[in-house]
Amino acid sequence: MSHRPIIALDLPSREEVEKFLNNFPSTESLYVKVGMELFYQEGPEIVKWLKAAGHSVFLDLKLHDIPNTVEHAMKGLAKLGVDMTNVHAAGGIKMMEAAKRGLEAGKPDGSETPVLIAVTQLTSTSEEEMHHDQLINVSLKESVQHYAKCAETAGLNGVVSSALEVGFIKEGTSSEFVCLTPGIRPSGSDAGDQKRVMTPSEAAKIGSDYIVVGRPITQAEEPYQAYLAIKKEWNGEK
Ligand code: C5P
Repeated sequence: MSHRPIIALDLPSREEVEKFLNNFPSTESLYVKVGMELFYQEGPEIVKWLKAAGHSVFLDLKLHDIPNTVEHAMKGLAKLGVDMTNVHAAGGIKMMEAAKRGLEAGKPDGSETPVLIAVTQLTSTSEEEMHHDQLINVSLKESVQHYAKCAETAGLNGVVSSALEVGFIKEGTSSEFVCLTPGIRPSGSDAGDQKRVMTPSEAAKIGSDYIVVGRPITQAEEPYQAYLAIKKEWNGEK
């Protein structure tokens, strides 16, 4: 099967999600990202509903708490059948190991352990802010690389990163370690509030493993056509 771009469902309610998904043939199995906005409004039911409709779900809640709390929270999220979820690497190696244990303990019988990735430095954080607010006195690049290595040590599958960071993250980690990259825009489209963007084909070229695309699909006049075009470009199909 060709790789599916992950669609960011940055929508405020299940009603809006239903309206959006009505643009797709019911047989089309999508990979969608549910973030805090939707999850905190609609709760776990939204994940169960998307899964029942045949979609894969990346639950983007960026957990960051003490290991025991994260372990039990992850156990609960795994029971929902999520395919991928994430934590902040700043929570530490022990917290990330606990997250993984939770997912393994909670996954439904016979299913695979959900993919677990870490956020390193948020791409909204500048080097200056990192120095000032976090009192981390290395370069942003070194901090991102360090967090990626910690995530790998903890047994995580990869990290969320800007497409521009993929090269140096991959330099320092094993070949199975994945990078999931948002900030993707098909050529000629509006970047919106994203500062540093890449096209799907550029992201594929630099070795990104998953791309997340929101508004270029959710706000498109014809979402299904926009999705198919991005998917094609991402898979290098003409
Ligand atoms: O609409 P757009 O394609 O910009 O959406 C990108 C999605 O990826 C949003 O859900 C955004 O919160 C998320 N994201 C991001 N940059 C990060 C991490 C997550 O754009 N560094």
